[in-house]
Amino acid sequence: MSTDAGSLDALLTEDRMFPPPPDFAGRSLVTDAEIYTRAAADREAFWSEWAAELHWFEPWTTVLEWEPPYAKWFVGGKLNVSYNCLDRHLDGPKAKQQALIWEGEPGDTRTFTYEELYVEVCAFGNALKGLGVTKGDRVTIYLPMVPEAAIAMLACARIGAIHSVVFGGFSPESLSDRNNDAAAKVLITADGGWRRGGIVPLKANADAALASSPTIEHVVVVRRGGALSDQVDATMLAGRDHWYHELVAAAPSDCEPESMDAEDTLFILYTSGTTGKPKGVVHTTGGYLTQVAATTKLVFDLQEDDVYWCTADVGWITGHSYIVYGPLANGTRVLMYEGAPDTPDRGRFWELCEKYGVTVFYTAPTAIRAFMQWGDDWPAKFDLSRLRLLGTVGEPINPEAWMWYQKAIGGGRCPIVDTWWQTETGAIMITPLPGITATKPGTATRAFPGIDVSIMNDAGDATNAGYLAITSPWPSMLRTVWGDDQRYRDTYWSRWDNVYFPGDGAKIDSDGYLWILGRVDDVLNVAGHRIGTMEVESALVDHPAVAEAAVVGKTHDIKGQSIAAFVTLRDAFPSSDALLTEIRDHVGIKIGAIAKPEMIVFTADLPKTRSGKIMRRLLRDIAEGRAVGDTTTLADPTVVAKLQAMHAEDES
Ligand code: PRX
Repeated sequence: MSTDAGSLDALLTEDRMFPPPPDFAGRSLVTDAEIYTRAAADREAFWSEWAAELHWFEPWTTVLEWEPPYAKWFVGGKLNVSYNCLDRHLDGPKAKQQALIWEGEPGDTRTFTYEELYVEVCAFGNALKGLGVTKGDRVTIYLPMVPEAAIAMLACARIGAIHSVVFGGFSPESLSDRNNDAAAKVLITADGGWRRGGIVPLKANADAALASSPTIEHVVVVRRGGALSDQVDATMLAGRDHWYHELVAAAPSDCEPESMDAEDTLFILYTSGTTGKPKGVVHTTGGYLTQVAATTKLVFDLQEDDVYWCTADVGWITGHSYIVYGPLANGTRVLMYEGAPDTPDRGRFWELCEKYGVTVFYTAPTAIRAFMQWGDDWPAKFDLSRLRLLGTVGEPINPEAWMWYQKAIGGGRCPIVDTWWQTETGAIMITPLPGITATKPGTATRAFPGIDVSIMNDAGDATNAGYLAITSPWPSMLRTVWGDDQRYRDTYWSRWDNVYFPGDGAKIDSDGYLWILGRVDDVLNVAGHRIGTMEVESALVDHPAVAEAAVVGKTHDIKGQSIAAFVTLRDAFPSSDALLTEIRDHVGIKIGAIAKPEMIVFTADLPKTRSGKIMRRLLRDIAEGRAVGDTTTLADPTVVAKLQAMHAEDES
């Protein structure tokens, strides 16, 4: 566990409590803690009440079938996710209400009412059908944060195709790996997207990936528009590549929603694990939408007049569940923004909050720490008085950042919901309910109603400090790893009997609040992005000069963690700054810029046990500049001193 005991004790003595402000609690959706006891008394009844809020073409016959580790929720039920996000809002006033409010990095805007979004989704659904996409086919989506990203997801859901969204920051090689693992038939991309004033050349990246993506038959290319499309001249391969706008213009605008089984796959989302190969997390339809819709409504306490903004990218699970499916299922107004928080200046997010009257704002601790470093003056320039609720997700939030968020952004009047969950859980699992939970800086407080969480030791006994564990199946849980049931069982269900292991350490305090302490496996969390140490190591050793590599996380003020790599070179390659840059860039080529190590130390040897296992614990100590722990099991104890000397040189 990376959190050291000293800072943990400081966290656990955190005694600042923030009860829900009376104004907020007065109009909140949840006003009574009996929701917890009611849900605990009959979890299945609780979740079926939420499922019943959705529109089903056919009702389910059994709420839960649990044959560990395989769960089926709402068995026999038929529904369509896009119908629930769009069609069912069209009967009343919501038809004309804004669904998606979009702003590009350069300031161009587009908005869609529910009715307009419905028309667009239907047309694109038909366009995909026209390309031969049928129920169960896989479609890769590799887009910037443009409305078409949400439209493409909903269009897939409408026709029963399985989407696999790949974050636009991933490299061509990562993209083709994902295309191939899912055997995707169609790839949806764009000519490019804006990021910090620069162009992300998505079509060019896609073309590079397509050279080794044999299953892709068609490519749909969104024209980003504006100055970007004037500058980027995407090469279109006749017969394979199609412009999105041309397909949509030619497609009929009514598209019957496919009647999907509750357990049909809605999407695959690749995420890093402890091996070099990302896993395709599989989410299904009925249970996923039920929990995503319920948590969006209660955790964000959605009100009729809300303007909701989640700053995640649709390439991550947060974008799936809390930009697209949860908010639209609830018929709220969703703001979507293409760019970075510091372009053209560091006031960009607050300018958007003011301009659109954002009421609910959901972001990551890494962003909050950056805002904090940029200073109070930026948010102070803007009118943030419409904000009423703030959220955070992705990593533990340090109490200073929490306090700053509460004061500088929330003006001291907005509750903060610190939400713990994962790609695999699909939806929020641990969180305050903002109308009733007294919050404490740094803790996600307690499990959402209907979710069973415990802290366990290796033996599976409940303890106050150990591993986080989820002890009952939940509706939005992953169903398997795409094409790899064995990996599903090994990764999540092999530590204890029939209990899910999320990979996080946790403690419980005297108020019964849960403190999430970070990953206990070889998974890093860099600026809220999940990266496996093995993935980076594989990318490093792929470089011809690298003989061996070990990667560890290093504490970083803004990013939470940064990547430190210890690399031994092959004899024929003398170390040099140029080689260091080349190796770092190689990781960018293999995975994407987010995985480039911030620190690379060349070393003649790595600290290993006598059985040859790399002692990452020692490398973490060295990277952090800490006193090095027990070295008695090392095969060659002098390695550590040499490494320390080298690292000291590197830092100076
Ligand atoms: O370590 C936990 C951390 O992020 C991991 C999940 O990462 P990912 O699947 O990429 O999903 C991120 C967005 C849901 C978890 O295993 N994590 C997420 N939220 C929190 C958190 N750690 C502490 N507090 C949180 N609120």
